[in-house]
Amino acid sequence: MCRSNQELWEGTGAIDTHNPNDVLLAKDLKPTLAVGFFSPSHDRYTQTACVYIRSEFKCELMITQQVLLRDAMRRLDMTRDAFADRIGSRRRALDSWLLPDESNEFRAMPEVARRFVQEILANATPRTDPSTQSVYTGAGPLTPGGPLRHLLSVDQFTRESAEDLFRLADVMLPIARRHKVTRVLEGAVLANLFFEASTRTRVSFGAAFCRLGGSVCDTTGFTFSSMAKGESIHDTSRVIAGYADAIVVRHPEQGAVAEFARATNVPVVNGGDGPGEHPTQALLDLYTIQREFSRLGKPVDGARIALVGDLKYGRTVHSLIKLLALYKGVRFTLIAPPSLEMPAAIVDRVNRNGNVVEVRESLQGLADADIVYATRIQKERFAEESIEGYGAAFEINRALVERTCRPDVVVMHPLPRDSRAGSHDLSSDLDGDPRLAIFRQTDNGIPVRMAIFATLLGVDKLVQRSMRDAQWTPPTFIGPEDSPFHGLD
Ligand code: NCD
Repeated sequence: MCRSNQELWEGTGAIDTHNPNDVLLAKDLKPTLAVGFFSPSHDRYTQTACVYIRSEFKCELMITQQVLLRDAMRRLDMTRDAFADRIGSRRRALDSWLLPDESNEFRAMPEVARRFVQEILANATPRTDPSTQSVYTGAGPLTPGGPLRHLLSVDQFTRESAEDLFRLADVMLPIARRHKVTRVLEGAVLANLFFEASTRTRVSFGAAFCRLGGSVCDTTGFTFSSMAKGESIHDTSRVIAGYADAIVVRHPEQGAVAEFARATNVPVVNGGDGPGEHPTQALLDLYTIQREFSRLGKPVDGARIALVGDLKYGRTVHSLIKLLALYKGVRFTLIAPPSLEMPAAIVDRVNRNGNVVEVRESLQGLADADIVYATRIQKERFAEESIEGYGAAFEINRALVERTCRPDVVVMHPLPRDSRAGSHDLSSDLDGDPRLAIFRQTDNGIPVRMAIFATLLGVDKLVQRSMRDAQWTPPTFIGPEDSPFHGLD
């Protein structure tokens, strides 16, 4: 069949040679990466088709065209428009290559375009900017393919290692969306130890582990734990390590999860330690921001991020601001009631990285924000603080968004939002508004936490090849109010 060059390049003509399930094989040849093609129908790698590209990949990894493209845009700091331009394609074609295979609008990327993307990556200069480097805290860096470690703080991440993790999260997406299944963690057991209230974090860690083929044991609260009998963190941790292959801990005291980690060689993940950190939430938040920005054509460098609410005790914002500070030229607007401001030590650190922090007293400060990240007032952590200053003037609702915010603002919240009267947390009158990203955010918790477990347990390279089609059909839109683009790009 004869097709025009443009059609051939963009894959917009009839598809006759491309299997939509084709995936790429990336093989460790640090600092180069061998990329070949893998077709499940042949079930073998076509090594002769390998080309070499430079990358941060450190391990053999199977990647699909969607993963390759997203990774390329992240590494080149390019919006979709700029990237489409760079590879000489139309934005519409690029969008169709990024859609999930199941979508009717999905198109396979022509081989010639795929090779060109690989070539561009091969010639790209790796980032050396020291501002993207994190401060090493002792738990060790978390890198796909790297050694077994705990995940205690976002300080373990550089911009590159966070983006490596996001590439792996992209690989997990078809499983998180229930189109594929894997059993790479078959036989492995997760101990989910939650000594503080939780719904989504506990269930999403559990669901992520199960979707990799593992099983989960849960314990909730102090009352029914042996800690109520005076058992130390050391003893609890060592005992559980004898039962489980990974441990997630949420604890009301800052530093307690690190204490768990010191007593075991089994990987420990911080699911929130008092007002300290919540690294996995920050990672899924940044992943969400990147995906939202990819759709809106904005880079994270130079983003305007407003953090609103209890910035003193909100551990999610402590982790998120540090993670975002790995990017360049970010402007943070902090809006908190008096006595609940962001701790000075965190503000100093973020300022030092060349980013700008401004403190505002009212929500008028949201006017040019790209992201509005609202948080709940953490009354349960109050010492002598009061919420006197937290009135209706702090409530983020539809009227405020219409009146004050940019039309393309993205509204986020780690959840839960306090829906009780008088709480003035994020209003439910924004539900169904596509600018509200809170459920896209919670959905993203699954692929990100799957990527974390796969990395910690060393199965990250096995996932793509192990995927099989799911035997059941999930709903196209998980929630009845989901936006048309929810989960689609
Ligand atoms: C947050 C937490 O526990 O820190 N929730 C979550 O994990 N998504 C936020 C909160 O409790 O307000």
